[in-house]
Order: sequence, then C-alpha cells, then structure tokens
Amino acid sequence: MADITDSAGSAGRIRASGDTEVAAYLEIAGASEPGQVLTPAPNAPEAVVVLDFGSQFSMLIARRIREANVYCEMVPWDTPASKLNHLKVKAFVLSGGPDSVYKPGAPYLLPYVINSALPVLGICYGMQLLAHTLGGRVDPAESREYGHAVMHIAEAQHPLFADMPADMPVWMSHGDHVVQLPAGFRVIGQSENAPVAAMTDDAGHVAIQFHPEVAHTQQGDQLIRNFLFGVAGCSGTWTAGNFIEESIAAIRQAVGDGQVICALSGGVDSAVAAALVHRAVGDQLTCIFVDNGLLRLGEAERVVETFTQHMAIKLRHVDATDLFLNELAEVTNPETKRKRIGETFIHLFEDETRSLGRVDFLVQGTTYPDVIESASTGNDAAAKIKTHHNVGGLPKDMKLTLIEPLRNLFKDEVRRAGKALGLPDEMVYRQPFPGPGLAIRIIGEVTRDKLDVLRRADWIVMDEIKKAQVYYDLWQAFAVLTDTKSVGVQGDFRTYGFTVAIRCVTADDAMTADWARLSYDLLSKISTRITNEVREINRVVYDITSKPPGTIEWE
Ligand code: XMP
Repeated sequence: MADITDSAGSAGRIRASGDTEVAAYLEIAGASEPGQVLTPAPNAPEAVVVLDFGSQFSMLIARRIREANVYCEMVPWDTPASKLNHLKVKAFVLSGGPDSVYKPGAPYLLPYVINSALPVLGICYGMQLLAHTLGGRVDPAESREYGHAVMHIAEAQHPLFADMPADMPVWMSHGDHVVQLPAGFRVIGQSENAPVAAMTDDAGHVAIQFHPEVAHTQQGDQLIRNFLFGVAGCSGTWTAGNFIEESIAAIRQAVGDGQVICALSGGVDSAVAAALVHRAVGDQLTCIFVDNGLLRLGEAERVVETFTQHMAIKLRHVDATDLFLNELAEVTNPETKRKRIGETFIHLFEDETRSLGRVDFLVQGTTYPDVIESASTGNDAAAKIKTHHNVGGLPKDMKLTLIEPLRNLFKDEVRRAGKALGLPDEMVYRQPFPGPGLAIRIIGEVTRDKLDVLRRADWIVMDEIKKAQVYYDLWQAFAVLTDTKSVGVQGDFRTYGFTVAIRCVTADDAMTADWARLSYDLLSKISTRITNEVREINRVVYDITSKPPGTIEWE
C-alpha cells in the first residue's frame, strides 16, 4: 500500500520506498512550476468507482477489485460526476468510514450515485449511508462490534452469496447499525450484534455491515467477485498487458519530439516507468542515476548494467559518493541524515538536468497507492516529506511536464508490467530499499569504512537468504551496523569489534510487520559467515521486534 506517512517521534520517520521518496523530492523541487500531469488515460471497457468515505481499508477494496481484472478507481466521496466522465462506470462501491451518518457535517452520498441506476455495493459506513439516504434508519448500536463475527446468510440464492457457506466468518468494525430498512429492502444476512448485516433491494443496491476487503473475512474476495460479476455484470477483462500498449501510444502522442528525463533509484517503480517511456520514445529519454554511495554491494553497478546494456537506455551515472559522504560527515541524527541526502540529491539532479540542455518532460514512478494516499488524506506525500526535507527547488525556468505512467497501477501490476517489458526478475521482485539507503542502517556517523563493513555483512545476509530460498517470502532482509562494540575472541586473540544486527521481516505492506521466524540453522550460517568473513565484526544479534512497536529500519 502507499507507504509514505509521517510518524511520531523526534526522528520524524518517513515510510516510503526509495522510488517514492525520490519522486517526492522531485515533486517538492518542482513545486513552483507544477506543469501538467500527464497520465495515460485508461481505456478500460468497464470501470468500478470506489467512493472513499475515509476507512483505513478503502484502498484494499480497490485492490481486490483490480485483482478480479476489473478496472477500478478510488476517489474521495465528494468527487463530482463530471470528474468520472473518462470512465465507463459499471458500478459504485461505497467504502467504510469513521463517521456517523446522522452527525452534522458527516460525508453523504451525492445524488448521481443513486440517479445513475447503476449497481451499488455499500460497505459498513457505505451501508449505513445507503440506508440513511434511501429513507431507512441508522442508530448507535448498544455494543460496538469489532473483530471476528459470524454472519448467517438469510438468502442463499442471492448472487452476492454464490459459493458461500451458510455461516460466514466476517470482520466487523462498527459502532452504528441499520435499525430500519429503507422501503423496498430486505435483510439477506444477520450477525449476533447486527440484525441487518446484509441487505438488498431489487434495484441492484446491496450493502453489508462487515468488511469483505480485509483478509480476516475469509471469503471476502469471493464476495467482492460475486458483486462484480453476479450483481454488476462486469466482464473482468482488464489486465496490465492492455495497459502497456495503451500507455505507449498515449506517451508517444503527448511527448511528440520532446526531450524526457527520469531519475532512477534502483527500485522497481522508477525502473518500470523508465522502461515503458523508453519503449514509447526511445532515445528522447535520458535517465539520470544519482549514485549516493549508500547502496548495497554491487547495486549501483547492477543498475547501470541493466539500463545501459540490457535495456539500451541512455543513462547518466552520477557517482556522487564523495559529495554525499561529505554532507553526512559527523551527522548522527537520523532526520538530519535524511534531510542532507534529500537536498544533495536535488542539487545534483538540477545540475545534471541543466547540462542536458532542452528538457520538456519528467517521468516519475508514482503508483496508484501513492495517488490514493494523497487523495484520501488530502495531504500529499510530497507535503509530508517536505516538512522533513526542506529542499530547494528546480530552477523556475525549467517547466517540466510530469509523466506518471504507473499512476493507475498497484505494485503487483507494476511488477507484471516490468516483467512484460523485459526487466530482469532481480529488479522486478526486489525487496523495498529506503531512499537514504545504508545511511539509516549505520547507527551514528556514516563513514566510508563503516559502509564497507556493513556492505560485506549485508551481502552475506542476502546471499544466505537467497540460497535458503526465503528471499521472496520476506518483505525485507538486511544487516544493521550498530554503534555498539563488544569484546570477542577471534582466533587466538581477544578482539573489540562491531555488533551487527540482522533484521528480517514479513509484511503485506510496511504499515505493520513481524520479525521473520528464520530457522536456527540459517541464522547460524549467517552469523558464522559474518564473523568469519568480516573481520571487523565479532558479534551478530537477531532483531525479534515486530512493528509496532518497532519500525522496520533502525533509524
Ligand atoms: P519503517 O522503518 O518506518 O519503514 O518501518 C517502513 C518502510 O519504509 C522504508 N523506509 C524509508 N524509505 N525513505 C524511504 O524511501 C526513508 O526515509 C525511509 N525510512 C524507512 C523501510 O525500508 C520500509 O520498507
């Protein structure tokens, strides 16, 4: 999911993929001249619109729908109908939300939804809203229902419940409930605390009190498919493959004979965006890869090789290790590290861009979760990063038009597009890596020597994780160089060396994570190899903290 958020604490953590962070720097830098945002319009034969009423799960609804090969866009609840004209809308879904429908100022349903006569699925707040709008009654429940519940299906033949068990485990999270049905509606499901757990009329309006989009509702995917195919009559033909062809045509047309630049981070989003734009405009695209000297072992070389040799893309490789390390000298505060790295990046990018002469377009790897995050919080990623990275701007005379070809794709769709474009698996399925790189995995001051020690230890972690074939099961796996030194015996000598921490986590997104239960055997191999092969390290510890309360990174 969109993984840029602000978080509490003096360190002012930013959760973002390296790609997103680079994109945000550029967005901030260009803020004085926003230019026009060019996004290839989806030419999908059908679309479902999710109206977002503010639930933390809203984005998952959009995701489930797209997984069913139905094109879907999520928009804020008060989006006017005129903004949906580019879509062939087949149905609406109303998300959950934190409000009470009867409270003054609560989000409401704009009339075009019902007037459209299209099928509507209301979820939680969306259900209460449907009831409220159509003349039913919603009251606070005596006891708030939160967590697992069982819904008894009262109308098994309803298409919403095709292939469902009669008693269905569901995930509830509500304080209000429907106490009186609107005219023409009937109850089709009940739970202990929600006498109206599911309702419908004969006009294609269905509503459920629980959340089908979360994994806790085991048959939730099926239920969403039932709505899409059984109730709304969608065909489910949208794929990432269609997207590539459409995008290439749209980009080619928009760019004409213009010149395009793209900042590569080494991450999957910017790589796929660049590969796509390259397909469309060839050598009119120049990629700029700012090597901050904070990447993993061999990573910079891999990026350069993939792009220049494998993809034959024009690439400027700016090796700015010295500059970044100078900027980081004596810096120990994690937030200052991030700020210095962001500023330095922008200055370099600006210099490189200027040296290219004419440039008209800037490609960014913004993905759909980033877009949704900005729309639903009304507080965009760049603004959040901006509070931490007060970077300078790109020069005012540089009026770059943004190209964001992945703006409509989820991460897994980006990966599929990357594969279809011929990017190597290693790049397409790469674990996330933070923009500030190893600088936030070295506790205390970042020096060339410490980077060298960490890189060698981190490489062993990666190597063993890959050999044990658990790389793809883990969200992230890496080494952290702590600022603790301890006494050891290596060979015949007592030593005083670094303590390295191994951090391996599983996660669905970076919002929460669990420490990975790696086998003792694997941990032992990693530890032995590190202390044998990296002379400066004499102690290896394994981090067994989940998130929350820990974060994934140490800084
Ligand atoms: P935390 O450590 O907050 O990390 O649990 C969540 C995800 O975000 C990545 N991360 C960053 N990415 N700039 C980035 O581009 C940053 O400053 C940053 N800090 C953390 C982290 O690797 C994890 O995937």
